[in-house]
Amino acid sequence: MQARTMLKIAQKYESLTRFIPVKFLPFIYSKMRQYFMDKFYRQLIANTSSIPLNYSDSRILWGIKFGSGLMNAAGIFKNGEGYDLVAFQGAGGYIGGTSTTNPRSGNIKCGVKLPFISLSKSDIAVNFLGLPNLGDEILSKKLLTTKKVDGCPIGWSVMRSPDYEEAKSLELLVQSLFKYQDNLQIDFIEINESCPNVKTDFSNLDRCLEYIAQNFLVNRSRRLPVIIKLSNDIHLESIPSILDLLFKYRFDGVNLGNTSTNYSAFHNKINNPHEKKLFDYFTTTFGGGVSGTVLKSSSLELCSKAVNYRNKINPDYEFHVIRTGGIDSMADIIASNAAGISLNQWYTGYFKNYANFGNSLYQNL
Ligand SMILES: Cc1cc2nc3c(=O)[nH]c(=O)nc-3n(C[C@H](O)[C@H](O)[C@H](O)COP(=O)(O)O)c2cc1C
Repeated sequence: MQARTMLKIAQKYESLTRFIPVKFLPFIYSKMRQYFMDKFYRQLIANTSSIPLNYSDSRILWGIKFGSGLMNAAGIFKNGEGYDLVAFQGAGGYIGGTSTTNPRSGNIKCGVKLPFISLSKSDIAVNFLGLPNLGDEILSKKLLTTKKVDGCPIGWSVMRSPDYEEAKSLELLVQSLFKYQDNLQIDFIEINESCPNVKTDFSNLDRCLEYIAQNFLVNRSRRLPVIIKLSNDIHLESIPSILDLLFKYRFDGVNLGNTSTNYSAFHNKINNPHEKKLFDYFTTTFGGGVSGTVLKSSSLELCSKAVNYRNKINPDYEFHVIRTGGIDSMADIIASNAAGISLNQWYTGYFKNYANFGNSLYQNL
């Protein structure tokens, strides 16, 4: 069965899940996600040319050409799968990861491996995956494609491993950054400073950014932009101080952002009673990060504020604001463009559109 067919069947019969006790559903959804992702990665792309877009939206960031303003978000291709697929689909760029220095198998809780649920009526997903990946030693050497497409640059998302204390994890992260620098297919790096599903202390952002800047940014041997991905939960008021730090250490951009743990804010936005019950069960039993349309306004608001502040300060180098969270339509891209946001990434909306349009999802946006 094709990956897209599987997704459509799952959506068609999803309403039947209301007859299943809610405590069994995370197991079912998580198993189905793993089965689907396996099929999704295995799609063979014979074509060497991309599906043409119906809109012209290419842009140059840091001297790199992005074919459009929309690409996948980190976490879809954790082990560097899928470049040829998204390049064929017509994505504006590709990002693999998030990876960590050591291989990780991800979270298992209450007998559920890589816990995940999807609430399709509310366009929400919640995941408690916990950074499963093959580790930087293997992934940094991976040949991501043999047919790199002009206009579909490659980013890599990396994070300090939660399996080490802070100083060691930073030292190992910097070693990994040099490894990815050696992989000449990679055009830019995104450092994930925001995963809610692992126990990492993100309160010392200043110290960590300073360490990365002093040990990696100033020692880069080629032009390799490095952006920092933060949570969609950060307060609007903290944008100036965060950006001041990023400018001080000369990071090349910010991505706002990652999933949210603001569960109470979303509870009332879920209208379907069954989905509300499942959401409450999952977030109280597993926790996890919330993604999907409920992040649309926060990602736009945070990024708009970041753009305005960047414009006000006018740093003496190129710094870009990237939006992730709740993007699922052309209206979102238009709103981002109007706000001066440089680039957009999607995850939950990507799969919603993939179910509807298959590989023509970018063309049909
Ligand atoms: C199943 C799943 C796995 C994810 N894994 C990662 C990850 O490894 N690294 C990361 O930076 N973000 C990860 N994310 C967060 C997304 O990249 C994105 O920031 C978030 O889902 C908000 O975007 P969306 O509303 O378009 O889904 C993950 C999200 C989901 C749903």
